Amino acid sequence: MEFTLLLDPHSPVPYYQQIYAALRQNILAGQLVPRQRLPSTRALAQTLGVARATVTQSYDQLLSEGYLQTVVGSGTYVCDQLPETLLHAPGLEEPWVEPSPTLVLSAYGQRLVDFVAGPSPEPNTPISFRYGRPALDQVPLEIWRQLLSRHCRRADWLDYATDPMGYGRLRQAIAAYLTQARAVQCHPDQILITNGTQQSLTLATQLLISPGDTVALEEPSYLSARRIFTSQGANLHPIPVDGEGFDGAVLAQTPDAIRLVYVTPSHQFPTGAVLSLPRRLALLSWAQQRGALILEDDYDSEYRYAGRPIPALQGLGSGQSVLYLGTFSKVLFPSLRIGYMVLPSALVPLFSRAKWLADRQVPTLEQAVLADFIAEGHLERHIRRMKSHYDQRRQALVTALQTHFGTRATILGENAGLHMMVRFQTTLPDAELMDRAERVGVGLISAAPQYLGNSPGHEFIFSYTELDQAAIAVGIAKLASILRAY
Ligand SMILES: Cc1ncc(COP(=O)(O)O)c(C=O)c1O
Repeated sequence: MEFTLLLDPHSPVPYYQQIYAALRQNILAGQLVPRQRLPSTRALAQTLGVARATVTQSYDQLLSEGYLQTVVGSGTYVCDQLPETLLHAPGLEEPWVEPSPTLVLSAYGQRLVDFVAGPSPEPNTPISFRYGRPALDQVPLEIWRQLLSRHCRRADWLDYATDPMGYGRLRQAIAAYLTQARAVQCHPDQILITNGTQQSLTLATQLLISPGDTVALEEPSYLSARRIFTSQGANLHPIPVDGEGFDGAVLAQTPDAIRLVYVTPSHQFPTGAVLSLPRRLALLSWAQQRGALILEDDYDSEYRYAGRPIPALQGLGSGQSVLYLGTFSKVLFPSLRIGYMVLPSALVPLFSRAKWLADRQVPTLEQAVLADFIAEGHLERHIRRMKSHYDQRRQALVTALQTHFGTRATILGENAGLHMMVRFQTTLPDAELMDRAERVGVGLISAAPQYLGNSPGHEFIFSYTELDQAAIAVGIAKLASILRAY
């Protein structure tokens, strides 16, 4: 059952009314959705330990009020057309903002209320330059399905894993890939399989940062990472990014004791700058001298369209100062929720314990499928194919921007990854540009939220993964017609 239904034996309210009220509340709150089949009266009566007639009485009332419908010979379903007035009952749409005064939260809970917002809304327009998704329609689903059905036959996948670090064959496949493609120094034993970078960052922060500790990060930087550090009570120390990326030399002059540095050296998020080799070496040597740790987020390094790939920061040092983070959200699909960390060997036992405590393990079936997907060469082929697919879209975006804006648009970080950042010369305020763009069906994402301090403004993150060349050309032409007069 996907809904909550608890009966109170001490309540003066009869059972049939309690069941009626609980089902109605579940429907209104969206936990039971239109066309969802309800359990039979016999099955629900058995689950709840009440007479079947009691459940029948509750169902009858909901049927008569239009919440439920019966399909002869099939069962009882939530009505597919619930009256608007029911779904918009007062209070139900109100998002939870403030806890009630009697609810006492932990310091973590209170920080989520005070400083950490929920997911940012995204434009819902026919043409959207939103970032963060690969081209989902290009994922080789048929191969994925075959591998899934191959592994689905094994009952032993269904048990708890014996090692919270992850499935051995997947860790071997990732270690081989990282050594060869990213010059990362690693043994499979150093690899922890996580539920994506979000979890890697959460575990690292939980284990390495106490409230009041300082985390240095790029300015601008990845908002989701910042939210994790803030939620754990860290002080943030932003370091400006220029064309060569994060300037680690600034760290040597900072009075704060910095425990952790979060960087995206291959393709700085969101500016796209590549951290230069001298700066990489300076950062590593600073970290080694100070005993600080570096979180290297290599989120989209698989895609490089021009210039030679730069080896990972992790591979340049002793491997003891850097925690390297990777994800399959960009090369495959984000709902897979599989990422990985390459840990300094001394930290392996601790992260293994933290992962076990957090959620035991990443599901074994998906790990086994992914291990075969990599080992049988499908991932490499997919990346190769997607590189040329994205490159065409990327070039279409650069050409459209150059054609329509010329020197009024500065394009940054277009040679790698799955997005670029564009700085417009305009007097039109960002909010107004986004608003006008939305009215003509074009979704824009401002880079401003990625800044901890004030953003210079007029900067937008453009991804091209979800749009074909024609849509890209139309979208940019529409923006140009808005900005022409400003
Ligand atoms: C900088 C950066 N790191 C990591 C990720 C991926 O995170 P996850 O593996 O949690 O999906 C993203 C996604 O947009 C990102 O922009």
